[in-house]
Amino acid sequence: MTSHELSGKRALVTGASSGLGADFARQLAAFGTNLVLVARRADRMEQLKAEIEKSHAVEIDVIPMDLLAEGAPRRLYDDLAARGQTIDVLINNAGYGMHGPFLKQDWARQEAMLRLDMLVLTELTKLFLPGMVARDYGHVLQVSSAIAYQPAPTYAAYAAAKSYVLFFGEALAFELRKTAVNCTVLSPGITATEFLDVAGQKPTLYQRLFMMQSDAVVRTGLKAMLARRPSVIPGFGNTLLAFGVRFIPRRAITRIAYFLMKYG
Ligand SMILES: NC(=O)c1ccc[n+]([C@@H]2O[C@H](COP(=O)([O-])OP(=O)(O)OC[C@H]3O[C@@H](n4cnc5c(N)ncnc54)[C@H](OP(=O)(O)O)[C@@H]3O)[C@@H](O)[C@H]2O)c1
Repeated sequence: MTSHELSGKRALVTGASSGLGADFARQLAAFGTNLVLVARRADRMEQLKAEIEKSHAVEIDVIPMDLLAEGAPRRLYDDLAARGQTIDVLINNAGYGMHGPFLKQDWARQEAMLRLDMLVLTELTKLFLPGMVARDYGHVLQVSSAIAYQPAPTYAAYAAAKSYVLFFGEALAFELRKTAVNCTVLSPGITATEFLDVAGQKPTLYQRLFMMQSDAVVRTGLKAMLARRPSVIPGFGNTLLAFGVRFIPRRAITRIAYFLMKYG
């Protein structure tokens, strides 16, 4: 992977207070990329900033923000524009899932999840992409999920939201093909972060067997982004599963997904 392409550029990482987002920040800093970190937990991001500054001489701005607050994406964009900070790399990573039967989930939390996972991601893309295209440089990385490749009972709404991210991102990658900007969709399988705790799920056997480390997932995502690939699934097992669903009737794959999420 070339380190110089992103050296001196600036990346906005959403959901940078834990998990994949924190590893995106670490690995981008290692390329010499300046960072804007956004999430709600300021203390976590300040700790991460201090950790990164020990080994990398990059500028790091911490912006504590609830991206679900009214008008938050627009405020973030205006704030960065007012500081004269140009975003060259947008890592649309903030998101969460909800595990359990759709009927039993709380609507306010479901609605917030759908807004964060789809609308906030889309609005941030809408805001930052035109500048990248105008400047003839940029990367957008959309974090979807391997769950996006099939219906997933017990994660019904979350999986469908991630299908939106997958297809939105891949279509956008095509629309951008004649520009100097690319869009890459990263679809991780189960990864050791705070995701399962937030989703309210204890890992099943299948998840424990397939669990990947966050730094490896992020490395795969950044490599694909720099290679301007439209889409990538980290891990051989996850790739095989996502490929395999093409050959199995969707009714059957829905049952299998249910089994793996509940008992597997
Ligand atoms: N881990 C997995 O197994 C897995 C698999 C496939 C896809 N993904 C996707 O990967 C992405 C990152 O998740 P993760 O696994 O790293 O989980 P995580 O450790 O729970 O991180 C989620 C991040 O999103 C931020 N976030 C949540 N709500 C927010 C809000 N309202 N405003 C701003 N930031 C918010 C959180 O920060 P604060 O709480 O500080 O706001 C946190 O930094 C998500 O889109 C997730 O759907 C994860």
